[in-house]
Amino acid sequence: MRAIVIHEYGPIGTHRVEDVAAPQAGPGEVVVAVKAVGLNFPDGLMLQGKYQNKPDRLPFVPGRDASGIVTEVGTGESRFRIGDRVLVQVFSGAFAEFVAAPEQRCFAMADDLDFVPGAAMITPYHTAFVAAVLRGDVKAGETVLVTGAAGGVGLAAVQLLKARGARVIAAVSSQEKADLVVDRGGADNVIFTHFDDLKGAFRSQIASITGNTDGRGVDLAIDTVGGDVFDACLRILKFAGRLVIVGFADGRIPAAKANYLLYNNLTVMGAPLDVHFKHAFEEIEQGATEIGRLYTEGRIDPQVMQTLPLEQFVEGFDLILSRQVKGKVVLTL
Ligand SMILES: NC(=O)c1ccc[n+]([C@@H]2O[C@H](COP(=O)([O-])OP(=O)(O)OC[C@H]3O[C@@H](n4cnc5c(N)ncnc54)[C@H](OP(=O)(O)O)[C@@H]3O)[C@@H](O)[C@H]2O)c1
Repeated sequence: MRAIVIHEYGPIGTHRVEDVAAPQAGPGEVVVAVKAVGLNFPDGLMLQGKYQNKPDRLPFVPGRDASGIVTEVGTGESRFRIGDRVLVQVFSGAFAEFVAAPEQRCFAMADDLDFVPGAAMITPYHTAFVAAVLRGDVKAGETVLVTGAAGGVGLAAVQLLKARGARVIAAVSSQEKADLVVDRGGADNVIFTHFDDLKGAFRSQIASITGNTDGRGVDLAIDTVGGDVFDACLRILKFAGRLVIVGFADGRIPAAKANYLLYNNLTVMGAPLDVHFKHAFEEIEQGATEIGRLYTEGRIDPQVMQTLPLEQFVEGFDLILSRQVKGKVVLTL
């Protein structure tokens, strides 16, 4: 089968699509013929050897998110049959014609969901659910800031938060991205991130939107960017505000001073999707059910900016790592 294979970590352009043996289903696993795969920012880190967790050995096939059709079911009880359409979320192995996945990493696809939007939904919407609902504990009517809001996880979070009745302020770096988060995400307001004094700029933009003169007008911030954006998010949280850390697209891992959190009565927490798959699978399943229902009701809608064949993965990752992507890039097989 064709697959992207990592022999040695390095720049994305150094990797190739190769012919390798197709996987077989172990006990409790299914094999899926992959139709489409979603590219995520962490996949780009993984190909370069910059992701915090790595597979035990090289070479390996990377890729987290795939949609496709079950072609083999391993021994033991199974929820799936050959021919079922599924979404797959694995630690690695999805960037290939076939992927073997534990049953607990597969979800039945809604009848009205096609393979391309399906592949675009998996990690972004599950991460958004973990961040906004399981960790952020968002309530209807709360004011929530989402950073990196035109990216995969960001736009998913904007849509999910709107569906849950929050007032959403989206932080983005350009007018084009602002148009996307309003038109396709339903964001109520937009703030911009292209300022030298970002803390001051966040405070003044939030003040003019919320009428809260000191700029502390946000109940919950969901931060996918880190760096200066994280630092600025801490300055716009209300009394008892919460900040959920999703990732560090900026590249700089920020630090929150304990005394700042103490004196301002703030909570900062992490939202790791993989850890929830391991320790809180029931909640992940609840998320999958809610995401499927909201899609069928037309209340969430993944935005695929570009579809490319598997062989053009380098072009796809260029869009993500050069910050040009709006919504998602999906590879088809
Ligand atoms: N917690 C988890 O389990 C989990 C799961 C998936 C992803 N993540 C993390 O969540 C973040 C977003 O992932 P994603 O797949 O949604 O990424 P994405 O689609 O590429 O979106 C990332 C956004 O971050 C902003 N950004 C700021 N500085 C950037 C830079 N130097 N390079 C690229 N983007 C930059 C961009 O928005 P602007 O141009 O508007 O600033 C961009 O839209 C990443 O840090 C990723 O590692 C975490």
